[in-house]
Amino acid sequence: MKYILVSSFLSVLSLATARIAEMAKAPIDFEEEWSKISNGTLEIKWYYFPTTQSLKIDIDKIQQVKIIRQDKGYAKNWGSGDFGTWWACDMKRNFRTHADQFYNVKVDIGETFKKGFTVNELDKFLVAIRKWLKVQNIAFE
Ligand SMILES: *[C@@H]1O[C@H](CO)[C@@H](O)[C@H](O)[C@H]1NC(C)=O
Repeated sequence: MKYILVSSFLSVLSLATARIAEMAKAPIDFEEEWSKISNGTLEIKWYYFPTTQSLKIDIDKIQQVKIIRQDKGYAKNWGSGDFGTWWACDMKRNFRTHADQFYNVKVDIGETFKKGFTVNELDKFLVAIRKWLKVQNIAFE
């Protein structure tokens, strides 16, 4: 009896340990200076003013993703200019030499403010976010 208890305790323990190890190692699907996608979560870095804290979003809550090249439209470096989108900090957003290789991406999760951030490697970003999006609603402006 004791043996059974101990051995079942041990197997529960090893299951728990394996589960923790598995949880700790959720693969990173995409990461740049401005965002990270892992385990169904989009982390927008440098988001909050003035703390620079990240914002984490469940990707399955995203209703639309809008993308525009940085040389084709203006967006604030940090904060909101139009009361429609809050842009995470990117002090170079409007000062890039190769602005045609960077994108302003905003996601709509049905809140007052859309959440905006910079992406450089757009192809990789799209592969990563498509994997977790419930609504495949990606628009290019
Ligand atoms: C991965 O996502 C699942 C479901 O949301 C969650 O339960 C789990 O804790 C997450 N793992 C990590 C490492 O964040």
